[in-house]
Amino acid sequence: MDAIEAEHLVREFKNGPRAVDRIDLAVRSGEIYGFLGPNGAGKSTTVHMLTTLLPPTAGTARVAGYDVVHEGPQVRMRIGAALQEAALDPLLTGREHLRLQASLQAMPRNERRARAGELLARVGLSEAADRKVGGYSGGMKRRLDLALALVHRPPVLFLDEPTTGLDIQSRTALWGEVGRLAREEGVTVFLTTQYLEEADVLADRVGIIDHGRIVAEGTPAELKAQVGRPSVEAVPADPADRKLVGEILARFGEPITSAKGVAVRLREGESDLAGIVRALDADELKVEHLQLHQPSLDDVFLAKTGRSLEGEAPEEEQSARPGLAMEPA
Ligand SMILES: Nc1ncnc2c1ncn2[C@@H]1O[C@H](COP(=O)(O)OP(=O)(O)O)[C@@H](O)[C@H]1O
Ligand SMILES: [Mg+2]
Repeated sequence: MDAIEAEHLVREFKNGPRAVDRIDLAVRSGEIYGFLGPNGAGKSTTVHMLTTLLPPTAGTARVAGYDVVHEGPQVRMRIGAALQEAALDPLLTGREHLRLQASLQAMPRNERRARAGELLARVGLSEAADRKVGGYSGGMKRRLDLALALVHRPPVLFLDEPTTGLDIQSRTALWGEVGRLAREEGVTVFLTTQYLEEADVLADRVGIIDHGRIVAEGTPAELKAQVGRPSVEAVPADPADRKLVGEILARFGEPITSAKGVAVRLREGESDLAGIVRALDADELKVEHLQLHQPSLDDVFLAKTGRSLEGEAPEEEQSARPGLAMEPA
């Protein structure tokens, strides 16, 4: 039995788009599944359906073996979720949040204290445990969200963009903890992200979602191999040489777009590089910049959607703008 299964899952909103458009999922027990996509792709809507917060318009889903529509309570007992709109009370401390959660989960009173301490230590919040959450950094809040989701030892964990807006250090720390949960405790993790690197580093398998549809799925290595061979980009020292450099590169592969210079998808691969350098040399063409580019998940996204995922504004920045505009001049 897969830990998470979905078949033709659909969610439509009134007057809105088909936020999730017939997706199929099969996440194995103990697997870290990365659900990668840009803002508005349908990631949160999917998570909300899988965590029983939102009924599907059509299709079915089972989590930990239970149907999300007909067996909601059984599903909820077996999942932990750290969602994007997590509500932390700024006036409560981290430890108070955990003890509250433990009592909500009906954990026996004599176990709550130890469990809170254990989880705070695990997410690196022992020292900050008795400070009010209002003073926590973004990274500390996301780590507390994770601890709260783990109180009742759920076998399946949902994390909706757990590291959006975090600095790379906090992000890496969270990756470490999520990886450990899957490897050492066999927890199944369904994690959404708009960060290519996060999916690449952390996920055993990645599903790329765009406009409510899964456009590609596989291990990061499989997905990159689908895009194929590496490309090489050359920026001529003299812009007038662009055409000549392009002609030489074209001997080694199919031309692809390049912002700064000329680029080709190599026919052979990395081994073409020496030949390119020799050919450029033979024609006395100087290049300012010659770079080998290994396929990334962004190339996969580009190949499947015609757009690049990299460089899209993260959610935090977008929601910060109106706030800034309202500040008195
Ligand atoms: N409650 C809602 N009512 C109407 N439209 C919604 C609602 N929630 C999400 N949407 C729309 O559904 C699409 C998918 O949203 P969402 O699942 O939040 O995407 P993501 O989490 O990938 O950023 C978006 O176009 C969004 O505007
Ligand atoms: Mg979302």
